[in-house]
Amino acid sequence: MADNYLEKKFEEFKSGSRPAVRRTGASLDTLLLRTRSCRGYDKSYEVKMLQLERIAGVCTKVASGRNQQVLRFRLITKGEQADTVLSNIKLGAALSELHLPFPGTEPEAFIVVCSEAEETRFVDIDLGIALQSMQLKATEMGLASIIICAFDKEKVRRELDLPMDPLAILAVGRGSERIEIISVKAGSDLRYYRNDGVHYVPKINFKDLLI
Ligand SMILES: Cc1cc2nc3c(=O)[nH]c(=O)nc-3n(C[C@H](O)[C@H](O)[C@H](O)COP(=O)(O)O)c2cc1C
Repeated sequence: MADNYLEKKFEEFKSGSRPAVRRTGASLDTLLLRTRSCRGYDKSYEVKMLQLERIAGVCTKVASGRNQQVLRFRLITKGEQADTVLSNIKLGAALSELHLPFPGTEPEAFIVVCSEAEETRFVDIDLGIALQSMQLKATEMGLASIIICAFDKEKVRRELDLPMDPLAILAVGRGSERIEIISVKAGSDLRYYRNDGVHYVPKINFKDLLI
């Protein structure tokens, strides 16, 4: 190998004369930007079981504390069980005056994430990894989603006849909302809000995240 092989490669990489890796789709930054919590869905689009399987399928590849993999998933498409979930969840509590979701924009497909082990710090970290990974996959597939933890666990477990406790629910569908991030300083009001039909999500700028 020539002496300056690595330097040359690095220069090529820096100058962007050729891509460091072959990108097949949106960058992670773009996916993250698009992965906003969506509370309004286009009901003319029906999410199929295969799509939910692809989304939940990412959980066969993610990290897990002690590699215990205690999370289990109930996939629910449009129908009676979806109606049950819908009647038990709360969306946009901070926007309670709006009574979300608006009629006709309700989500109809859900992934209910359960744990076969008692909830611990490790289980909760696994849960976060699973939920974020599934959201990113949904975004990659052109779908919108939202993580929901505001629901009655016992009622959902009973009404869906789940063999273990549900910890979180991911709603999935084709989004019908305009959602934008706004960069704010640490210490600012972080509550999301709506203006002229746009949903704004304040996010703390990077400099202020550093300690
Ligand atoms: C652990 C967790 C629980 C959440 N539970 C709910 C919920 O029950 N209902 C809801 O409308 N949004 C819920 N959300 C969505 C948050 O409100 C949302 O992430 C936040 O407003 C920031 O918006 P963004 O996801 O677009 O960045 C939850 C998010 C997380 C991470």
